Amino acid sequence: MAKRKRRGGTATLAPPSDPPILPGVQSLRRSVPASVELPPYAKTGEPGPSRSPLVRTDDEIARMRRTGAKAAEILMIVGSHVAPGVTTDELDRITHEEALKRNCYPSPLNYRGFPKSVCTSINEVICHGIPDSRPLAEGDIINVDVTVFCEGVHGDTSTTFIAGETDAFSQTLVTETRHALYAGMDALRPGSPVSSIGRAIESHAKIHDLGVVREFIGHGVGTDFHGGLQIPHYYDRRASTRIELGMSFTIEPMLTLGAPDMYMWDDDWTALTVDGRRTAQFEHTMIMAEDGVDVMTVTPAGDCAHDMYR
Ligand code: MF3
Ligand code: CO
Ligand code: CO
Repeated sequence: MAKRKRRGGTATLAPPSDPPILPGVQSLRRSVPASVELPPYAKTGEPGPSRSPLVRTDDEIARMRRTGAKAAEILMIVGSHVAPGVTTDELDRITHEEALKRNCYPSPLNYRGFPKSVCTSINEVICHGIPDSRPLAEGDIINVDVTVFCEGVHGDTSTTFIAGETDAFSQTLVTETRHALYAGMDALRPGSPVSSIGRAIESHAKIHDLGVVREFIGHGVGTDFHGGLQIPHYYDRRASTRIELGMSFTIEPMLTLGAPDMYMWDDDWTALTVDGRRTAQFEHTMIMAEDGVDVMTVTPAGDCAHDMYR
């Protein structure tokens, strides 16, 4: 039998997360007042084809900085509520209200039919977890992925938070996934190929024997929630597009303790690891600038929820 190339993961060491995540009960759909500007898909659920150029104008960058700062603030506030006993529906309520307070639309709401205002992905859930009645347990790790739409542009950012105290495997997974994001960001200068991002992330993951999820990738972001650029978090030499000055995109690596293979629940959103081992994710929205990436999803003072792992 041909040997299959092993793609990372301390599979023999870290046990599957226990107990497994199960779907809970979703609350009713939250409403948005008429005063908030809606993205094109808010009513229909269909974003349509992405038509916007990859490069942002100076005016768009100014708007992305303001919207990104709001996303960063909301993520920090929601993160401060992560604790054992808190339900993901409560985190959704807080995200929704904090977005509206800032005159923002919570971008996930009805995006391709997504039913809630934020994604909450616990333990072995890789991404796109739907908030529901499940209370967090001591030691859970939870990625909270906040995107908001304001002034015609989106800001997309996520952090993996820890409920109470967790085990050493989970701690390493979370801190090294954060480092992997910044390794990907640090690899970029104007003209760098997209593949340099995945190269940096994958080599960081390998050092710590972590897997890199392949099914979900970073993306162009700005006037569209998901724009033309595709950013794999693993090395792919075909990703030869060069990142030019002014291009706007996310980097959002998902790393795993075990094998990075995924399956999806019948809800067609919740993505989980096949082996049930834990996974973490960190994300920023950024613009390519002269001397490196200019991060949009930070407060005016430069703070964000990722800082707690520095
Ligand atoms: N915020 C996610 C991303 O990083 C996308 C969520 S799509 C949703 O790209 F519909 F699930 F909200
Ligand atoms: Co994103
Ligand atoms: Co996101």
